[in-house]
Formats: sequence, structure tokens, C-alpha cells
Amino acid sequence: MLLETKRLLLRRFRLEDAEDAFAMNQDPRVTRFIPGESNATVEAVKHLIQTTTLSDYEKYGYGRMAIIHKTDGHFMGFSGLKFLPDLQEVDLGYRLIQRDWGQGYATEAAQVVVRYGFETLGLQRIIAMAMRDNRGSIRVMQKLGMRFWKVSQYAGHEVVVYELTHTADTSQAGEGLTPGSP
Ligand SMILES: CC(C)(COP(=O)(O)OP(=O)(O)OC[C@H]1O[C@@H](n2cnc3c(N)ncnc32)[C@H](O)[C@@H]1OP(=O)(O)O)[C@@H](O)C(=O)NCCC(=O)NCCS
Repeated sequence: MLLETKRLLLRRFRLEDAEDAFAMNQDPRVTRFIPGESNATVEAVKHLIQTTTLSDYEKYGYGRMAIIHKTDGHFMGFSGLKFLPDLQEVDLGYRLIQRDWGQGYATEAAQVVVRYGFETLGLQRIIAMAMRDNRGSIRVMQKLGMRFWKVSQYAGHEVVVYELTHTADTSQAGEGLTPGSP
């Protein structure tokens, strides 16, 4: 599975990505709104990739994907879909190394992920969650055309939840803003 945009490649994670993912997660600006991530060592990140991401590919046929810059091939972070069995929902996620922020990359990556989810995987609905103060993340959801759904508790934290449905929203995904926020 390989997704491509103008500037980015999204490919499946490999265990060798653990060092880059570890380095990304060492930056407190990156993890500011992501509590409880187990990032103590490269080995811990490798274990996480093995037991969550690679396992999701096996179980569901999709999962978070590594983002690679087309021009110089550097590891930028991830985007992708994750099935959440506890909620019975498919969650869109994204995380980038700090030096790649602010250039539209997260939105660009998420747009192709959402299209893949609806058009190739045949999903009917995708949600995204962020802590209330994570304005950058929420802005990405809005730029994707997602609609505010609710404030909820997830993994012990208050989050805002946005939603996008195939029938109503796909054609607009990423092409405009949907008003509405918590
Ligand atoms: C959230 C994140 C993925 C965004 O990546 P990005 O490539 O900078 O996103 P984009 O450039 O596509 O869009 C970001 C938008 O948010 C806006 N934004 C960023 N920080 C903001 C803030 N503090 N307040 C308000 N808006 C903000 C940007 O201006 C931009 O909107 P615009 O295009 O209308 O100007 C990145 O900041 C990140 O990796 N953060 C750490 C990990 C994380 O929190 N992930 C989400 C967990 S829910």
C-alpha cells in the first residue's frame, strides 16, 4: 500500500522507522497534546510499531502510515487510519516532526488518507480526536471538511471529536472549510 500526493509518499511503517519515530517523539512540542505515549527507548517504539501499527495492518488491512518527503526522502512523521475497537470507529491521525510543521503537509497527507478510506476501503465514516487546546490539529480537521461532533472523554482525557461521512462529505474533503467548532 502506497499513497502519493504532490509532495509526499505515505507507505507502511517498518520496524526500521523506530529510530526516526523515537526522535520525533522526544520533542516535547510534538507530544504536548499526546499524553501517555510509550517512548522511553527506540526499543519501546519498535515494540509499539510491532504490536499496534503492524498488527493493525494484519487485522484490518490498514493502519497509520509513515510519511516520507518525495524530494529528499526524509521521515516526516505519520498519518493514517486506525480502527478503534472500543469505539467501533475509524480514527484519522497525524503527527509530524516539528521542522515540517506549518507547510500544509498534515492536511495534504490526511486528504489522501481520507480519500483512500472512503474510495478504496469503502468506509462510510471517519472520526478524528484532539485535545481541546490542540488548535493546530483541530484546524487540520476543519480544513479537511470534517464537522465538529462532540466533546468526549478518551483514554482519560477530554477531547473534541470531529466526523466525516462518505456520502455527505467526501466530495468536499479538503476543498473548503466547514464552519463549526466546540
Ligand atoms: C497537528 C500537526 C500534525 C499539524 O501539522 P501541519 O503540517 O503544520 O498542518 P497544516 O500545515 O496542514 O495545517 C495546520 C493549520 O493549523 C493552523 N495552526 C497551527 N497551529 C495553530 C495554533 N496554535 N492555533 C491555531 N491554528 C494553528 C495553521 O495555521 C494551519 O492552518 P491554515 O492553513 O489555515 O493557516 C502538527 O502540528 C503536529 O505534528 N503536532 C504534534 C502532534 C499532534 O498534536 N498531532 C495531532 C494529535 S490529535
